[in-house]
Amino acid sequence: MTDDGNPRPLAAVRAKGLKGTLRVPGDKSISHRALIFGALSIGETRIAGLLEGDDVLATAEVLRALGADIARAGEGEWRVRGVGVGGFAEPETVLDHGNSGTGARLMMGAVATTPIACTFTGDASLCRRPMARVLTPLALFGAKAVGRTGARLPLTLLGAEDPGPVTYRLPVASAQVKSAVLLAGLNAPGETSVLEAAPTRDHTERMLRHFGAELSLGRDGDLTAIALRGRPELRAADIRVPADPSSAAFLVVAALLVPDSDVTLEGVLLNETRAGLYRTLREMGGDIAILNEREEGGEPIADLRVRSSRLRGVPVPAERAPSMIDEYPVLAVAAACAEGETIMAGLEELRVKESDRLGAIAAGLHACGARVAVEGDTLRVTGSGPAGPRGGATVATHMDHRIAMSFLVLGFVTGEPVAVDDTRMIATSFPGFTAALDGLGARFAETGRAP
Ligand code: S3P
Repeated sequence: MTDDGNPRPLAAVRAKGLKGTLRVPGDKSISHRALIFGALSIGETRIAGLLEGDDVLATAEVLRALGADIARAGEGEWRVRGVGVGGFAEPETVLDHGNSGTGARLMMGAVATTPIACTFTGDASLCRRPMARVLTPLALFGAKAVGRTGARLPLTLLGAEDPGPVTYRLPVASAQVKSAVLLAGLNAPGETSVLEAAPTRDHTERMLRHFGAELSLGRDGDLTAIALRGRPELRAADIRVPADPSSAAFLVVAALLVPDSDVTLEGVLLNETRAGLYRTLREMGGDIAILNEREEGGEPIADLRVRSSRLRGVPVPAERAPSMIDEYPVLAVAAACAEGETIMAGLEELRVKESDRLGAIAAGLHACGARVAVEGDTLRVTGSGPAGPRGGATVATHMDHRIAMSFLVLGFVTGEPVAVDDTRMIATSFPGFTAALDGLGARFAETGRAP
């Protein structure tokens, strides 16, 4: 990130007729995992379509510090020469994950069963986020953490000398925690199992198999049991990263809301554990055609053709939250421009994302004149109809890329422009976001205003 330390505010202005075809950058979750599994394998892993966002680049840097040989061969083309399971070397530097909870939590798992000391840190947002959710299961393997009160970064993790296998029931629906346990289980002899009540994104499981690990899925009462045989020899594998549905979401909602739009997004990942937003938008009356469904790198993908639509509010059940956990900010924007009420239940986890997203969404919508209420972990948005709420505010993003992008999308609809106080964080997940929208015909205005 080219960062002079100053916030970079930006405003979005009412738009008409977004048109075009494009492919958004590679999926962030898969990109992190492609690098991590490549680094844990023997041989050369070739990755195409890697997301070159700050979060993923931070993971690459951390893996280099642990001994992996990682090189960029072209745009999105990366080569990783791994060290093998258990082969990480003790790093000479602090491991800095920037803004990325996924990077930090997955890497804590990946080093927890190797007897090395690693000190993890991140930016101000990441240093506020809870790490006990991974440190608790990693302690069962024998890893020890020393850090700040409340298990916040920076912290030092001492990997287990003599790890044993673990069976762990996830107390929260979190793919990061599931993945941290499975990554730790790689270097523990015997079988490590994770028990999951609600399905969360399954890229780690898919990739474990792709790299040659033995993984089985079973039932344990109401739970899914994911069992991994420890100490496999992971073999290098080629990976093609599909387009990120969480990034595509902003363009999809923009195309639905802006009149006379017709936008096609190519090669979007439509793994069921990630597709909740698309299901919800279609229930709201969104015209999203799913075309050319196919498989790429073991994941289902499709092209999405999106046309302007009149949306109506719907109830969004809590069970759907894990399959669209990152998409509530932009769904809330869509809801503010729909007719009727959208009730989003089960959003407790939004409190511990890059920001307190529940609070940030409510404050932002309120500032823009939308009707919004938070009741416990439920968000209620009463739509203002297709012309959207008033706008005319500068929204606080709290170092959260998805809050920034969501409110810029709102500004394409509202009568008065919507500004966000900082756009630097957008580079963590969607480099080229404003250029992509420019290309579709949207307009931005520089603004000196910040709250
Ligand atoms: C992710 C899991 C989710 C999601 C994050 C990426 C992953 O977090 O919000 O953006 O790649 O595993 P949780 O596991 O905390 O729900």
